[in-house]
Amino acid sequence: MKYVIGNWKSNKTSHEVAQWIQDFSLQKNENVRVVIAPATIHLTQFSSEKRDEIFLASQDVSHLPMGSYTGAVSARQLGDLGVKYALVGHSERRRYFAETHAQVADKIAHLVEEGITPVLCVDVEYVDAQADLISPEHYKKIIVAYEPLAAIGSGKSQDVGEVKSVLNSIRLIFGENTAVLYGGSVTEFNVREYALICDGVLVGGASLDAGHFSRIVKSVIA
Ligand code: PGA
Repeated sequence: MKYVIGNWKSNKTSHEVAQWIQDFSLQKNENVRVVIAPATIHLTQFSSEKRDEIFLASQDVSHLPMGSYTGAVSARQLGDLGVKYALVGHSERRRYFAETHAQVADKIAHLVEEGITPVLCVDVEYVDAQADLISPEHYKKIIVAYEPLAAIGSGKSQDVGEVKSVLNSIRLIFGENTAVLYGGSVTEFNVREYALICDGVLVGGASLDAGHFSRIVKSVIA
């Protein structure tokens, strides 16, 4: 089974979310798992309007438990909304919100406790340092998304050969049973090459348009 995860980042109004849900067309297929990570404020809207075939993800989670932490959204609250996956350690979180490897490891621990699957985003430079802080017991409970910084939002996806060798080294760290994805300028035109060498893709910009994203999913199924 392959994952196709759409990360909408800080995009879309609630009206646009409703429109996307209406426009997205997909036949349920057991070979692919479609996951959408809308902005946190749209999780409830998505969970009430979404079709059965789309799983819900959050783009982040608090590194702290539920409690007096103004502005934070805890793993328990996400689980309560029906969220099944959560991105953690996206490079934009690390860069613009100064997220640390230790915080990312704490997020994973909270998510695992709530039965939510963490999708850990990493680049080669820090994958070892990040893995060192995560409990090895959690390795098989996470999905790892390899996202080379230069490929994110640049329109320049990484060469498939290079991706392949990094994915192999990631599998050596986390184990053969851990699902590993590729992310970075994935489109309907290149998705198949990546889907063939890994367990799926994490899609940013190209997931915002329902038609484009439907075609990405169809290419993965084909
Ligand atoms: P992109 O983003 O597909 O727009 O490059 C990927 C990501 O940031 O997860």
